[in-house]
Amino acid sequence: MDTAVEDGVDVLSLSLGGPSVPFYEDSIAIGAFGAIQKGIFVSCAAGNSGPFNESLSNEAPWILTVGASTVDRSIRATVMLGNNAQYDGESFYQPTNFSSSLLPLFYAGSNGNESAAFCDPGSLKDVDVRGKVVLCERGGYSGLVYKGQEVKDAGGAAMIVMNDEVYGNVTTASLHVLPASHVTYADGLSIKAYINSTSSPMATILFKGTVFGVPYAPQVAMFSSRGPSLASPGILKPDVLGPGVRILAAWLHPVDNRLNTTPGFNVISGTSMATPHLSGIAALLKSSHPDWSPAAIKSAIMTTANLTNLGGMPITDQFFVPVDVFGIGSGHVNPTKADDPGLVYDIQPDDYIPYLCGLGYNDTAIGIIVQRPVTCSNSSNIPEAQLNYPSFSIKLGSGPQAYTRTVTNVGPFKSSYIAEIIAPQGVDVKVTPSAIEFGGGSSKATYSVTFTRIANVKVPFAQGYLNWVSADHVVRSPIAVIFE
Ligand SMILES: *[C@@H]1O[C@H](CO)[C@@H](O)[C@H](O)[C@H]1NC(C)=O
Ligand SMILES: *[C@@H]1O[C@H](CO)[C@@H](O)[C@H](O)[C@H]1NC(C)=O
Ligand SMILES: *[C@@H]1O[C@H](CO)[C@@H](O)[C@H](O)[C@H]1NC(C)=O
Ligand SMILES: *[C@@H]1O[C@H](CO)[C@@H](O)[C@H](O)[C@H]1NC(C)=O
Ligand SMILES: *[C@@H]1O[C@H](CO)[C@@H](O)[C@H](O)[C@H]1NC(C)=O
Ligand SMILES: *[C@@H]1O[C@H](CO)[C@@H](O)[C@H](O)[C@H]1NC(C)=O
Ligand SMILES: *[C@@H]1O[C@H](CO)[C@@H](O)[C@H](O)[C@H]1NC(C)=O
Ligand SMILES: *[C@@H]1O[C@H](CO)[C@@H](O)[C@H](O)[C@H]1NC(C)=O
Repeated sequence: MDTAVEDGVDVLSLSLGGPSVPFYEDSIAIGAFGAIQKGIFVSCAAGNSGPFNESLSNEAPWILTVGASTVDRSIRATVMLGNNAQYDGESFYQPTNFSSSLLPLFYAGSNGNESAAFCDPGSLKDVDVRGKVVLCERGGYSGLVYKGQEVKDAGGAAMIVMNDEVYGNVTTASLHVLPASHVTYADGLSIKAYINSTSSPMATILFKGTVFGVPYAPQVAMFSSRGPSLASPGILKPDVLGPGVRILAAWLHPVDNRLNTTPGFNVISGTSMATPHLSGIAALLKSSHPDWSPAAIKSAIMTTANLTNLGGMPITDQFFVPVDVFGIGSGHVNPTKADDPGLVYDIQPDDYIPYLCGLGYNDTAIGIIVQRPVTCSNSSNIPEAQLNYPSFSIKLGSGPQAYTRTVTNVGPFKSSYIAEIIAPQGVDVKVTPSAIEFGGGSSKATYSVTFTRIANVKVPFAQGYLNWVSADHVVRSPIAVIFE
């Protein structure tokens, strides 16, 4: 990282990370602190240890911590039955020579053998599937592609693999070894019912290639690491989501299991794939706003992020369940809006020192991070949530808690903002002043926000939003409250 800084890079993109450790033992956090002091933006992967709580990497507030979401692309393989019913499934293998004529359809578990129902290795050797489309179930001892290998070895022409109830609507485009389609649990039940309903069930698969506009995208990837942050619970992490599921990119090795072909492209998933999307967006923002600090760029990305999917509904996880702020952070990046955020929450490198003192680190430990001698004093400590961060994360007991924030106007010179509060359940949120005018002297304004518990709610955690709204901008900050 230091060498990259010496080379004069503008953005560092790190698709790597380890488990949570204090920042003075976290080499990426230390390297990143050196970088932001030079105005270099650092974006890092949130980690692939989800969907479990407290599973984040790269939690330092001077880093952009990037979670992964799906994109609106489906690689479609539509099952068509003899009764003309069609079910959209997925397959990355898209053969061009597979006939669309109907073939006999056979349920692999029809002999009552569970292992055959799962198309486990060896389970179909005595079953007559030759030339048939075989319906297999998710589960058992084999992954989706290996089920296809079993069907192929037994002479099957194609495979439909249906989900189990737990995976429900979650389908995957895999690099199958034969014509195949992965369908949802509900569609699988319909296909089974059709098989039951006729003496000669028939089916085929229609390969439709890449289809865009999937309305429930973006979804938070199952594997995307979730908060709360362990190293600094007073900072809401991850910060933002970017595309990280089935990302198509240049690839070093051939993917078609032949040795003599040239490298080409591959499709893989991870917060490692989401991170460079955000690094690229940061580079664009830096070129259109060369005077913005790394914290300002980060604020612009966070306060303008999308909370809804393309269908206009709240962003869900891959099981179609709405995700809380510990999964989506500020939301899914919206690059166009990030270019014109209206207001930013700026932070200078030295502002992190009172925050680090407030974390309880001693002077030596902080010196390791900032690479110079530091002396904390009680008067200069701040609580974590007092850092001028574009989101809020607090643990709330019975007493009220007050914080201040300073916003910088980067929008129209004359503009007025009004605070709009969507309070977390059981919490009163008071903002003073509740209106801010720009256009006179300073481009900066400070406000205070007080959180007070007003009801004993039966949940361990609640979330809300604090939005500064003008005629042409909404500057949104998520609020996470854990009750103590
Ligand atoms: C994870 O956090 C959510 C709130 O975000 C909570 O509902 C859930 O119980 C937590 N799960 C575990 C395993 O702690
Ligand atoms: C389709 O093409 C693949 C790859 O070339 C080949 O292995 C397969 O036998 C072909 N299938 C048919 C039905 O012609
Ligand atoms: C299911 O089929 C497999 C493979 O043919 C066989 O080994 C196994 O004994 C069968 N199970 C039952 C319960 O019949
Ligand atoms: C998910 O599956 C259920 C049935 O299992 C269905 O009712 C629901 O509409 C599906 N959701 C989406 C978004 O496809
Ligand atoms: C199909 O028929 C079998 C045997 O009669 C029954 O056990 C099964 O529940 C039926 N499946 C559906 C989806 O109707
Ligand atoms: C974010 O929202 C905007 C509308 O404000 C929409 O045009 C865009 O497609 C959304 N981006 C994603 C990834 O959902
Ligand atoms: C400072 O903190 C570090 C990390 O906890 C610890 O190893 C070290 O002993 C502490 N130094 C002093 C002088 O307390
Ligand atoms: C800081 O505060 C603690 C506890 O309130 C106290 O024990 C300590 O002496 C103070 N240190 C300084 C340098 O004022």
